[in-house]
Amino acid sequence: MNYLIDTIGCQMNVCESDKLCLVLSAYGMSKVNSMANADIVILNTCSVRAQAEQKAFSYLGRAEEFKQRNPNVKIVVVGCMAERLDAKIKKRFKSVDLVIGAQDIDSAILKIINLFDINSSSKQKKSNEQSGIARYVTIMRGCNNYCSYCVVPFVRGKETSFSAAEILSECSLLAQNGAREIMLLGQNVNSYRYENVDFTLLIKKIAAIKNLKRIRFMTNHPKDLNDDLINIMATEPKACSHIHLPMQSASNKILKAMNRKYTFEHYLELIKKLRFAVPNVNVTTDIIVGFPGETENDFQDTLKAVQEIRFGGLYVFRYSPRPNTTAAVMIDDVPLEEKKRRHAVILDESNKISIEIVSKMVGSTQQVLIEKIENGIIEARTRGGRKVFVKNGTEKDLGKQLNVAIKEAKINSLFGSIV
Ligand code: 5AD
Ligand code: SF4
Repeated sequence: MNYLIDTIGCQMNVCESDKLCLVLSAYGMSKVNSMANADIVILNTCSVRAQAEQKAFSYLGRAEEFKQRNPNVKIVVVGCMAERLDAKIKKRFKSVDLVIGAQDIDSAILKIINLFDINSSSKQKKSNEQSGIARYVTIMRGCNNYCSYCVVPFVRGKETSFSAAEILSECSLLAQNGAREIMLLGQNVNSYRYENVDFTLLIKKIAAIKNLKRIRFMTNHPKDLNDDLINIMATEPKACSHIHLPMQSASNKILKAMNRKYTFEHYLELIKKLRFAVPNVNVTTDIIVGFPGETENDFQDTLKAVQEIRFGGLYVFRYSPRPNTTAAVMIDDVPLEEKKRRHAVILDESNKISIEIVSKMVGSTQQVLIEKIENGIIEARTRGGRKVFVKNGTEKDLGKQLNVAIKEAKINSLFGSIV
């Protein structure tokens, strides 16, 4: 039995797809990379922007055509859009066998297993578990922040932190199976709390796991990022020097309308503290342009902030109204063409800055973790999270932290050799 799984959306989805793969493989199913070879097609969906949902609909259109030619194929939709548009998906795509919402990925696994009537006796031993140097672990689900543009609280539900003991045993198991880096995931990891364990303590506990070399986390909320975390980033050798800190806008008027609960001044203060405590920290961000009421002045504030802060990288999005959110009732008054222009201006500026930053890295030595070797190409990552293609090296370097001399830089990747 072969399955294909395609993922749209954030790292949380990538992580959940990973989990699905793990279980399906343990049940003896084989992962394939194209629909043509699949008995089961799984699509993991996203609802954050309208575009992501359109992408899922067109994917399902293709899957439906494929099923017309291969009627035995099963189609399964999971994730946020499955949660939000369950009825609509079933109505529009009669070919879809199963729609499973984002709030219960664990029962999703059971439902998929049942769909195929696979009994647990076919479950193979752990040997089938996927290995990998850099792995994801979800530490919490949902969000209570209700940023006025965001659909996540409506599809992922209330914020819940997972048991620290369970997270620790998952991380230990991954480390036993070869993981050397773990990325902790949640909509707002800074507000993690399970009984008396807060996020900083969780990092300390995970850092004690033998064999684990690096800990990353995302995503952060500027209103909850505290000195303790900055301190851990500065002092815990396993904590990586990258932080994704969504700014969204640099106009206080817009931040207020977005219900972000911080001012631009507070955001700048955080960046200063981070850069002081963690030299060379790579700060990346998310920005929304064209939020209702965003004037040219508000936009210029954001552009100036991008120029001043010099993010290591950023994602910029055109505002799109989402159902149920409080921004959905505001007048979406920035015309699409203007949103596109603002989007392009930020992207251009950010690309220019990124190229300057990576160009300066040429000639430096970076500590990298060797993550992957595929077709003789070695992929590694710096502590700041930049991808590095390493020219020399062998299989035995996999999972090691090595110093690499950077020889060449492109906007999204560095090239170097082990020193
Ligand atoms: N329109 C545009 N961008 C959005 N984001 C979230 N909701 C919307 C929306 N309605 C962006 C934010 C967030 C990122 C994951 O997606 O920048 O940080
Ligand atoms: Fe959405 Fe805001 Fe929660 Fe992030 S913090 S998931 S943007 S509501």
